Amino acid sequence: MSDGRPGYQRAGLAIVLAAGEGTRMKSAMPKVLHKVAGRSMLANAIASVAGAGIERIAVVVGPNREDVAAEAVKAAPASETFVQVERLGTAHAVLAARPALDKGCDDLLIVFADTPLIQPATFLALRAALADGASVAVLGFEARDPTGYGRLLVDDKGLAAIREHKDASADERAVTLCNAGLMAIDGRLAPSILDAIRPNNAQNEFYLTDAVSIARARGLRAAVVRAPEEEVMGVNDRVQLAAAEAVAQWRLRDKAMRDGVTMIAPETVFMSFDTRIGRDTIIEPNVIFGPGVTIGEGVLVRAFSHFDSASVADRSAVGPFARLRPGARIDVGAKIGNFVEIKSAHIGPGSAVSHLSYIGDATVGAKANIGAGTITCNYDGFDKARTEIGAGAFIGSNSALVAPVRIGEGAYVGSGSVITKDVEADALAVGRGRQFEKSGWARAFRQAREGREKKRV
Ligand code: UD1
Ligand code: MG
Repeated sequence: MSDGRPGYQRAGLAIVLAAGEGTRMKSAMPKVLHKVAGRSMLANAIASVAGAGIERIAVVVGPNREDVAAEAVKAAPASETFVQVERLGTAHAVLAARPALDKGCDDLLIVFADTPLIQPATFLALRAALADGASVAVLGFEARDPTGYGRLLVDDKGLAAIREHKDASADERAVTLCNAGLMAIDGRLAPSILDAIRPNNAQNEFYLTDAVSIARARGLRAAVVRAPEEEVMGVNDRVQLAAAEAVAQWRLRDKAMRDGVTMIAPETVFMSFDTRIGRDTIIEPNVIFGPGVTIGEGVLVRAFSHFDSASVADRSAVGPFARLRPGARIDVGAKIGNFVEIKSAHIGPGSAVSHLSYIGDATVGAKANIGAGTITCNYDGFDKARTEIGAGAFIGSNSALVAPVRIGEGAYVGSGSVITKDVEADALAVGRGRQFEKSGWARAFRQAREGREKKRV
């Protein structure tokens, strides 16, 4: 099997364990659906597996967890889901995906879905250990505090056994090299090794970790692949969720900066897994990029701006305090200024929406100027309607454009207008009360009132 990576000719199957209860999250939502960098931990784990060229993905979910199964299919449409009806241990969970395993593979990878920071390169290193002749390869790390983890017991032939904390002797507990929980097993041997696991331990569970001693007893080799503790961090509560988020954010910021983006205060910029930012773009402090955002080259993103499923083309400027909601498309060299909200709208090249506006469900042509306080009235409580503003149009400040409505190319709208009818190209439309003036009225008014006050005294 080829996965498109040079030198990778081995068929891969990943079994992703997502059957956890996650009670310490204290949440109505299952743990693996909580998000890191804008997508679920499950989707993060699946993306990482896919990034290591693994074609087949089987996800093991708990009973009645259609939400988790749906998320798995969203992250990897070709993935299969299996239900682990009773929680009898990690090996038992893997065997819930037995039909996927029985189809055969060269590399079986076992992945915990609550470990969102694993990188594809680490899965590739586990696969490389199998390609190198190991029958089992286990991901290990040096734990600052090993309490609770399985300990990796190493001898001169490699990895000899994994001892769960609860089953470990005092000497074994002194070992700091720990099991991250990820493991690769030779796909041809995996069914028989997994079948041999028995629940003979303190927790009366089928421990996946016993795969190592079983392989060794059969004269096979087991190996350890090491990863930094930060990468194998598991999430069990919301404090750990925030710690994982922090690591993910620094990875995204580092990559953006190394790719040519300037961030004045990177620690205040929050990105999503798929945020794309071009070279020579400058990001001022306190900016948030939700999922689905693309920013071009040479863009100035000013402070306190918020983006969600939006795109900004080259040499534009956005913010400060701008909000680009889903479907906002800002074309080349456009300017979106402070306190402007854009939703489902295309702003044409070189156009400006500089102050205090809401432009929703709209198309704005090239080089139009939308004055301060312009609002597209796009919603009547039931339906959304569109506003079209032609190229070169000039919308005077504080105008309300009541959709559906079309402003022709080059037209002017007088300030303070409420526009309810289409405006033809190059016309002037004014929709407001006409100004009138009464000479001397104010003086006469004052005199009359002052006279009344004197009589009272
Ligand atoms: C496991 C490892 C331990 C390792 C640690 C790393 C085993 C026996 N132990 O311990 O060596 O140091 O992870 O974090 O593998 N799961 C199911 N069904 C089950 C049981 C577990 O789907 O019946 C899933 C859980 O949701 C979780 C994962 O498997 O995602 C690990 O289970 P957990 O109970 O957290 O194992 P640990 O005790 O942390
Ligand atoms: Mg755990």
